[in-house]
Amino acid sequence: MCGIVGYVGEQQAAPILVAGLKRLEYRGYDSAGVALVDHGALTVVRATGKLKNLEGKLNAEMPKGVIGIGHTRWATHGRPSDDNAHPHTFEGVSVVHNGIIENHLALKAQLKAKGHVFSSETDSEVFAHLIREQQRTGSALPEAVRAAIAQVRGTYALVCITASDPDTIVATRESQPMVVGLSSGQNFVASDVPALLEHTRDVIFMEDGDFAVVRKTGVTLTDRTGASVTRQVRRIDWSPGMAEKNGHKHFMHKEICEQPRAVADTLRGRVLRSEGDVHFDGWSLTEAQVKSMERVWVLACGTSYHSGLAGKWMIESLARIPVEVELASEFRYRDPIVKSGQLAVAISQSGETLDTLAAMREAKTRGATTMTLCNVVGSAMTREADFTVLTNAGPEIGVASTKAFTTQLVGLYLLAVKLGRLKGTLSAEQARGHLEALSEVPKLVEKVLKTEGHVKEIARKYLGAQDFLFLGRGPMHAVSLEGALKLKEISYIHAEGYAGGEMKHGPIALIDEKMPVVVCAPHEPKVHYDKIIGNIEEVRARGGQVIALVEEGDAHVASLANDVIEIPKSSALIAPLIATVPLQLLAYHVADLRGTDVDQPRNLAKSVTVE
Ligand code: M6R
Repeated sequence: MCGIVGYVGEQQAAPILVAGLKRLEYRGYDSAGVALVDHGALTVVRATGKLKNLEGKLNAEMPKGVIGIGHTRWATHGRPSDDNAHPHTFEGVSVVHNGIIENHLALKAQLKAKGHVFSSETDSEVFAHLIREQQRTGSALPEAVRAAIAQVRGTYALVCITASDPDTIVATRESQPMVVGLSSGQNFVASDVPALLEHTRDVIFMEDGDFAVVRKTGVTLTDRTGASVTRQVRRIDWSPGMAEKNGHKHFMHKEICEQPRAVADTLRGRVLRSEGDVHFDGWSLTEAQVKSMERVWVLACGTSYHSGLAGKWMIESLARIPVEVELASEFRYRDPIVKSGQLAVAISQSGETLDTLAAMREAKTRGATTMTLCNVVGSAMTREADFTVLTNAGPEIGVASTKAFTTQLVGLYLLAVKLGRLKGTLSAEQARGHLEALSEVPKLVEKVLKTEGHVKEIARKYLGAQDFLFLGRGPMHAVSLEGALKLKEISYIHAEGYAGGEMKHGPIALIDEKMPVVVCAPHEPKVHYDKIIGNIEEVRARGGQVIALVEEGDAHVASLANDVIEIPKSSALIAPLIATVPLQLLAYHVADLRGTDVDQPRNLAKSVTVE
């Protein structure tokens, strides 16, 4: 949700902090601020709203200092305001915090009883007070932070500076991401890698309970007890340019167009054509384990949940293992019957979604082997899962997930082939057929992207609609849910995805001449095709506007629809990968034509690390 940047070095910190925060704007925020120390004096500047408001204040009087911290806040405790914006400061101690402190009310009461006066409604401010209390007993900043943290219950990525120690940043984390960036004569901390890419590609992903003491001369890492810990320095391949828009109007548009590359990168190195098999680095399941596997659990939220629904079709049809797809937020609070020997697959673009992480932990506690299908190296899920299959989509900045979805589908298809080979339900020859079909997907997606001009015209025609219905059957049900989610989250038009067979159990009552109905109608499997034509007839009979997604040359469905979007011919399991792309474009152009904030839709954040 919130973004954190910290800098210590020889350059003026304020511009570096603001530039880093800009790289994190995609996380969503409602206020921003920086704190700097210069010659023993702490300066804090904060502003409600977008970063340009903060920049306006900074430009009026640029604070000096070669050490500083910055933050973009997404309100949880206390409304968006200058006072509630981070950094929070008390007697020369300044902190920025992501996460939620559960016992902040009790801590505040204790501190108030000792005479502390609070200046915000936030839970985060207690950190500054707790740390100051420790300093009063003579503790240096690292020890003061450690002692303060020991009193706190909740989740946090915390970064702290103090006027009395102008060389030191202290950072720590619990269930919130935090990364240290290493460079010569200067070092960084941030909640997310894009904030650092302009300066360094050498990073350390901190683990829960790690404390980093960051100075311009180096970084030391310790655990909660103060014992030294060693973490791998990772080289991040993402260039700063990869996190830019590259000339597109929005990140979302850029990311839709990147899908051929993203799909190819996700296939790269995994397709063993001659063996008719799949290679995953770090794969840890044996043939015996897969043969005796009773169930696969798929745990995810939002778009990732939709990819899981399509993945169920892939795994069940190729590996013949039953798959349960669960909303992570539901799974974690029930009493699921998970047995040892089962596989739990947590799907997540960010690898930090709290509900998915908690569901994965729950499955692990109950004996499942855990795998994450994830896009972010070093994220919490990749660190905690028994093994990881990465989607190599590259950084996804737009809040609406696009290339993450298609690469998740690729990962799930590869997983289905891998399980099928180990289980013995797929011959090498059959697997080769699937892998060859997958290898064609980048080209097919390229082709679909060429329909953009036509899709934009359709978007223009229907952009005034108040509601949309999306229908699909089988794997296309997942696509219809995803199409509806894309449209509603960025255009704010009400949209629902439905399995075609469910239409007459309720939503048919909504259909009139004002209702556009997007019907996903590829040829395969035939049984779904025939039935979805029945749905189209039902919509037409009630005056609804049919926008049909059909395979090239399908004159029959085209003759029934008001508007048609063609996709290349493919199989039932490949079609979701291709059919999603025009729906992403439809949502994008409707939203853009309506003038919404496409990359940062209202009320949404990229990474949902709170409940
Ligand atoms: O990072 P994750 O894949 O775990 O995120 C899950 C959802 O929060 C995410 O897919 C969300 O639904 C997006 N806004 C969809 O575009």
